Amino acid sequence: MYWTKKHVLVCTAAHCAGKGANDVAGRLRLEVIRRGLDTEILVNNCGTIDLCDIGPNLVVYPDNVIYRGVTVKDIPDVVAHLRGGPVVERLLLAENTAEESARRAFYAAALTSSAPLPAEDFSALATAHGFDDAWVAEQQKRGFIARKPAVDGTGDAITVTKKSLARYGLLG
Ligand code: FES
Repeated sequence: MYWTKKHVLVCTAAHCAGKGANDVAGRLRLEVIRRGLDTEILVNNCGTIDLCDIGPNLVVYPDNVIYRGVTVKDIPDVVAHLRGGPVVERLLLAENTAEESARRAFYAAALTSSAPLPAEDFSALATAHGFDDAWVAEQQKRGFIARKPAVDGTGDAITVTKKSLARYGLLG
């Protein structure tokens, strides 16, 4: 990054857009310009960052910060961070935040069973961890799980992919 100090990527893919991400991106860009910060801070839209159920999401580089559930009301605090202020803790997605801890616990539980799991069992396990079928479908779409016909012909079976193992620190 040789011409900007920070680069903000605002996800405006379908799920985040459906929850107001385009307004967030537009307002953030406007506030950065209004404050004369646009020579130092670049705001771009981007495609999905695989956190579709907790958006709108944005990523700040080089800070390695992900904010989730961002609304237009949060923009002043986000801009304050971009100007060198503190990270906005209430929006921060980190390894130990509730959403990530819940996902890690779920995937860890899925791994203790003999994989691949029958789709119905996987769904029941997800439900027990507070995730619904739409979430499971999204995880499949994002490549965190793979669904294939079971070898015994009894329906579909689900395998946890390396992508989720790597993300949640579950690789052996
Ligand atoms: S749509 Fe924004 S993270 Fe997927």
